[in-house]
Order: sequence, then structure tokens, then C-alpha cells
Amino acid sequence: MTAPVAAALEDLARAFPAERLARDPERLEAYGRDESDLGSYPPDVAVLVESAEEVREVFRIASAHRVPVVPVAARSGKSGGVLALHGGIAVSLERLNRILEISPEDLVARVEPGVITGQLQAAVEQHGLFYPPDPNSLEMCTIGGNVAENAGGPRALKYGVTREYVLGLTAVVPTGEIVKAGHRSIKGVAGYDLTGLFVGSEGTLGIVTEVTLKLLPRPRHVSTALVVFDSVATAARAVSRVLAQGVIPRCLELLDDVSLAAAAKTSPFRFPAGAGAALLVETDGNDEEGVFAEIVRVAEIVQGDASGEVIVAQNEAQRRDVWETRRYLSVNLKALHPKKLSEDIAVPRSRIPEMVERAKGIGARRGLVVATYGHAGDGNLHCNVLFDREDQRPQVDLAVAEILRAAVDLGGTITGEHGVGLAKRDFLEYEQGRELVALQRRLKAVFDPLGILNPGKIFPG
Ligand code: LAC
Ligand code: ZN
Repeated sequence: MTAPVAAALEDLARAFPAERLARDPERLEAYGRDESDLGSYPPDVAVLVESAEEVREVFRIASAHRVPVVPVAARSGKSGGVLALHGGIAVSLERLNRILEISPEDLVARVEPGVITGQLQAAVEQHGLFYPPDPNSLEMCTIGGNVAENAGGPRALKYGVTREYVLGLTAVVPTGEIVKAGHRSIKGVAGYDLTGLFVGSEGTLGIVTEVTLKLLPRPRHVSTALVVFDSVATAARAVSRVLAQGVIPRCLELLDDVSLAAAAKTSPFRFPAGAGAALLVETDGNDEEGVFAEIVRVAEIVQGDASGEVIVAQNEAQRRDVWETRRYLSVNLKALHPKKLSEDIAVPRSRIPEMVERAKGIGARRGLVVATYGHAGDGNLHCNVLFDREDQRPQVDLAVAEILRAAVDLGGTITGEHGVGLAKRDFLEYEQGRELVALQRRLKAVFDPLGILNPGKIFPG
């Protein structure tokens, strides 16, 4: 342990009760891991904060000793945002987990960052309301993490991503100010949009301690269907055709042949033999017939390409089965090959078929299997490079680099929903250019002049 860390620990021990400082190696190891498969970077200590004032106190101590601070909660992130690269103090937001208010009149919810996304959804639904952003980790991920990463999910196609729902927030910046950005009204244009800047800043500008979220009335009817194709190329073309015909379902998810094989191992759903790809389509609204008519319209558009009939879920249990198949893909792919690096590139919708083909080709040339699935409707594809042994890693890294560059070359981005974090920091400049990256570094320095908050993330060290 370095002298500054030891000194910071002494100060923390004076400022916080012992039970709110985690020090034992096993717990710290857990705080230093997430779902990025990038390894373990434990902090020297984790502080379980209970208020914005306590976060400010952590920043005061960290600034005095120049020790890094990393915000953490559920650790479900996929780009390494919570990894304590240089050790230091993890600020755990797990105790700030209250839903402070649900207002059907204002159509807003006020929550603390440690609230589990799925629990917020269930709570607002009891009031007939709807919080659309649905990252697939919604049973464990938190609103604070969703805000940090500007998380998406299947429903983003129709409803947009987290940013569209954050009306305002309270954040503590490393210089010690507790700032309230945004508003409770739907509109509000005073000053710079700092709310929007905090959303997606990956825990590098401040630590959010309260969020005001926009809610919608809950759509009364949902219809879910599964369409099977003989190849992923055909399915990808079908996605483009649906959108070009002016239909925007709430979800339009793609599963390729490898993903179907992985799903078959665990899922309750049986795909026809020889299925090469599938699309999961969902429509919603208040008029039952309209919702059904829309899914029929999608079926008509894709019918010519589909290799079998369009299967519409007949009840809630069937819907659940279909979604289970999709939701656990990220985990189940490991049943095929024990290791994987999962990307989340996004391309303009018209380039989806080309991107799918390029990713497969890149894998094939390097003797690697690439599974592609994801939110095809908004061009956001999870290209997973699967492998078995660590000695394949150099080839895997090269394949990942080629996939990221292909996405940018097709007019897209290196990350559609998981963030840059540690995983993609070396590729940010390829996408955004030197000047834009330099401007963002200067912006970061305004919020964090000492560079103590989550160093090494987004930008190369
Ligand atoms: C998903 C996660 C990986 O869509 O974003 O399954
Ligand atoms: Zn996803």
C-alpha cells in the first residue's frame, strides 16, 4: 500500500463508521470485478456512502492525498467502468437504494442511484406507469449505472435510451460541489445541458446521488412474435425492410445461427432444425387490435424471406419463454466456448446486413467463431468473439479491433450502449478524431482538475 493510500485510509476511518468501510480482500476483489471479462482490479477500500454529503467527504479526503476514486454499484457493466485500475477508493452506492417518489401527476419518479432498474419498473407499473429503458441486466443493474453508461436495451428502438428519461439529477463533483442539474418539468432549456453531459459520462465527471426520471403511461397491450430465417443475411435484410416500410416495433432483436445454437442448450423455446437466424419482434400500444395489426404488418413484410411461419406468442408464458431465450444469451454463449469478448457496435440501419457479414468474415479469417445478436432495429449489434484458450487471445484482440474499425468505417460507432470504459479507450480516437478527444479531456479537467475520479477510463492513460 502506498503512503497516500494509507493516509487516506486513516482519514476515512475517522470520518466513517467501521462497518461502512470494506477492507477484507475477498470483498475488495468483488468490488474490482464487473461483467466486462477484463479481469480484476480491486480498490484499496470501498466506502458504502449514504448521502451526497458523504460522497463530498470522500472527495475531500481523496483530493488531499491524491488518491483515485471509482463509483461502483451492481458491477453489471460491460466496458470495465468500475474497475479500480490504480486502486484507491471505491464509492459504493448500494445503500442509496430508495425510490423517493413516484408521481402519477407529474409523470416522474425520483430515485437514488442504487435502485435496481427492474424494481423501479415494477414499482411504477403498479401505478399504471412505464419506465421503458430495459437493459438485459435489469434484474441486477442499477439506475445509477444506467445513467453513467446511458444504457439502452431492446425497447430503445421505439422508446429511446436512458438519456431520454433523465430530466434532472444531483451530482457531487470532485471539487466538492453538490450540483442539481435539470428540472422536473418536461421542458427546460436554461443553461448548458449538464444533465445530458453527466448521462453517459461513465463515472468520470461526478457521482450521481439522485435522479429525476420521466415516466410514460404504461401501454396496455403488447404482442410478441418470433420469425425464423434460413440465414443471418436474410434476417438482417428483413430488419432493414421492416424499418424502411415505416413500421417501428418496440423491439426488433436479431439472433444469428451461433446464438440460436447457444440458446437451444438452455432455452425453453425450440427452434426448428436448421434455423439460421431469428428475429424477435414486439409491438405495443393501448388498442389491442392495433397492436396485433402492427405485428401482422411486420409478418407480411418479412414473410417472403422467412423460412417458416411467424410464431406469435399466445400468452404471457410464451412471451416469457421467448424473452428468456434472448435475455440470457450473453451468459449462455459461454456454454459453447468458455471465453468471449462481447462488443456492442452500432451502425446506420442500412448497413446492418454488411456489418453482420463483415463480423463473421473477420472471425473466420482468424479461425474464430463470432456470434452476432442484439438490437438490430437500431443497428446496435453484439458481436461476440468466442474462444477456448488464453493463447488465442492475441488473435481475439485483433479480431475485436477489426470489428470496431469496421463499424466506424460503415458510419457507425465503437459502442452503442456499453460505454468506452477501459475496454475501448484505445479506439475512441479512431472514431472521433484527435481534436474531439482532446476537447473532451479538457472538459473532464474542468470537473476533475486533479484527475482523481475514475482515471484511465474513456481516454487512454
Ligand atoms: C444484451 C447486453 C449484452 O443486449 O447488452 O444482451
Ligand atoms: Zn444489449
